[in-house]
Amino acid sequence: MKVFITGGAGFIGSQMAEVFLREGHEVVCYDNLILGKREFLKGCEQNAKFRFVEADLLDLDRVVAEIAGTDLVVHLAANSDISQGAEKSDVDLKNGTIATFNTLEAMRRAKVRNLLFASTSAIYGEASKKPTPEDYGPLFPISFYGASKLACEGLVSAFVHNCGFRAVVFRFANIVGPRSTHGAIHDFIGRLVKDSSVLKVLGNGTQQKSYLHVTDCIDGMRFAWDKCSAKHGESEFFECFNLASHGVSNVKYLAQTTVEEFAKAREMKSVPKVEFGEGNRGWVGDVPFTWLDGSRLEALGWKARLESDQAVREAVKQIIRDKLGSKESFL
Ligand SMILES: NC(=O)c1ccc[n+]([C@@H]2O[C@H](COP(=O)([O-])OP(=O)(O)OC[C@H]3O[C@@H](n4cnc5c(N)ncnc54)[C@H](O)[C@@H]3O)[C@@H](O)[C@H]2O)c1
Repeated sequence: MKVFITGGAGFIGSQMAEVFLREGHEVVCYDNLILGKREFLKGCEQNAKFRFVEADLLDLDRVVAEIAGTDLVVHLAANSDISQGAEKSDVDLKNGTIATFNTLEAMRRAKVRNLLFASTSAIYGEASKKPTPEDYGPLFPISFYGASKLACEGLVSAFVHNCGFRAVVFRFANIVGPRSTHGAIHDFIGRLVKDSSVLKVLGNGTQQKSYLHVTDCIDGMRFAWDKCSAKHGESEFFECFNLASHGVSNVKYLAQTTVEEFAKAREMKSVPKVEFGEGNRGWVGDVPFTWLDGSRLEALGWKARLESDQAVREAVKQIIRDKLGSKESFL
């Protein structure tokens, strides 16, 4: 099978590429490197079945040319940094909505039908029902990022029904693990590298989210695709799943776990202090409490290997090991 991964030099995309290559598939990663890094693909570059295309999804002709002959598209490219939208209100429109339209349009022109799409819990906005199931509504996202992903889901659905695509949309929890390019854990470790005496946290630490380890994210996507394609055969389909582990973790737990693991890794005599700010919102557009109901995918037989707190601890250890073990500057 030939797999085309947009955002393939990013946190999730580069690890997804490794998984497909290990299984013997051909992989093309398409990325403009605005957030992703070429070094994340070091493990793929030696493989003859791998190809990297440094290009922008906003260049539709280029996407059409590169996507031709693909069996499965994994569309991960986006502005994954939600807080950026508050300062640049068109970044999600361009790298989210238009980039997604171009990916879908390129698939249509190149006669490629199969798609996995990375959506997000941010489409639910401040949902009153928790854990939040896939059929919760009406949907009122509160960030430009969430608004863009919701528009993208609509586009995927429309392309399925107009062009006979076969698509699975995943509403991800917060994904954690090595190579993350943003997010609270990444930020906390960066702060500790600069000043290991104290960790200053935005907000009062009560924010709670569902966390999922990147290995579980990739495994869940692959599982759902196999199940859905077996169920629908060659017919067109649109399926949508929350992708989450059990439970939620709060920012206090993230911060405490980070200082503990950082002190262990640096063999420090005492654990850095944690200082919290005020309010329960990390940035404009942040949803202070998200909790995804993952039972729809579980009903098909999938379960995350790690629960939310376990995923956080494993990711903290991995990121610290990678960062303290390398000479590269953290931020
Ligand atoms: N990591 C999470 O917690 C999380 C949660 C929910 C949803 N998601 C979604 O999952 C996907 C992957 O996220 P990630 O954490 O790996 O993010 P990431 O930033 O590491 O990867 C996204 C990649 O897309 C690339 N990209 C952005 N705009 C592009 C464009 N116009 N053309 C070509 N490439 C472009 C970036 O350079 C980057 O490598 C994203 O769509 C993100 O919104 C992630």
